[in-house]
Amino acid sequence: MHLSTLDVLRCPYCGGRLELVASLFHSRDGDEVHDGIVGCHCCLFPVVDGIPVLHLDPAAKSACGQVQEGRPDLARRTMCHLDDDQAIRFDQLARSETSTYRDMVGVIAPGLEGIYFLHRFSDPSYSVAHPVARAVAGRVLRGGGRAIDVCGGSGHLTRSLMDLSSERPVLADLYFAKIWLARRFTAPGCEAVCCDGNAPMPFARGAFRFAMCADAFMFIWTKRQFVAELLRLVDAGSEPAAVVISHTHNARVWSQSHGNPLPPEGYRDLIDPTRGEARGPTKDEAKRQQRAATKMDPQRYQRCLMAGMPADDEGDR
Ligand SMILES: C[S@@+](CC[C@H](N)C(=O)[O-])C[C@H]1O[C@@H](n2cnc3c(N)ncnc32)[C@H](O)[C@@H]1O
Ligand SMILES: [Zn+2]
Repeated sequence: MHLSTLDVLRCPYCGGRLELVASLFHSRDGDEVHDGIVGCHCCLFPVVDGIPVLHLDPAAKSACGQVQEGRPDLARRTMCHLDDDQAIRFDQLARSETSTYRDMVGVIAPGLEGIYFLHRFSDPSYSVAHPVARAVAGRVLRGGGRAIDVCGGSGHLTRSLMDLSSERPVLADLYFAKIWLARRFTAPGCEAVCCDGNAPMPFARGAFRFAMCADAFMFIWTKRQFVAELLRLVDAGSEPAAVVISHTHNARVWSQSHGNPLPPEGYRDLIDPTRGEARGPTKDEAKRQQRAATKMDPQRYQRCLMAGMPADDEGDR
């Protein structure tokens, strides 16, 4: 974690800024923090292998203690949920310069999810999300700004954002081992944050211009809060910004990793700012939208609303 990343991090519980606690164990290489403790008004959180863990699951609490005791190696084991044999294998592979993504996935996620991650680049839902993310992010980040990939897993789509984001894109996911893989193999150079999408997002308002969530929205229970949070993250005043939620399941059609999807009208009610509870439009926005609705092609107007793009009469920006 680069120290400057602290500027965009906020505690998910009190909303306060986070600072590196210099009086507690930490290891740094210049401005890069490898391991340490960050604190706000209410909590201490561990940074493990450069990844701030901004939730209070039991593993995160144990890892916080282990880092304070000067044992970041144990904290990494704890956060990856490894038993002793797996931990030995993981440590060997992590030390080796020739170990591959496939080797590490075999230790961390030997089951079905491992197969998903191994073949993600040829998955139809990736083939759709990649060009959509590049097209929309390329547009809103043209004048600068940062991207975030929420529930980004092991970083396949974070990789799609690397050259578009003016500062390192951020990958956020609940499962530490996946984002560890992303930083090592799939999207090296990204910043990664371990956090729970069912809680308020641990980032400052307007810290990003582009936020995406691919193939994961159906696993989030607090959908209303989640949508409002993604909109808050890209709320940078009049700057162009967009939120993309791609490949989320349909409650009426069974799928293998079904999760908790909504029916189509559920997504409409949630996201359409003229109806949705996730975020009602401000008075000014409502006026602008009404003005735009009378001038714009209705289909384009709807697309703008769904993509969170400004649906005003200033042309195609
Ligand atoms: C099917 S994978 C998609 C990964 C990535 N977005 C992609 O398209 O390659 C779903 C991801 O959602 C993450 N996830 C599930 N529940 C979550 C939660 N409550 N908070 C954050 N991430 C979560 C999982 O860890 C997993 O990485
Ligand atoms: Zn706090």
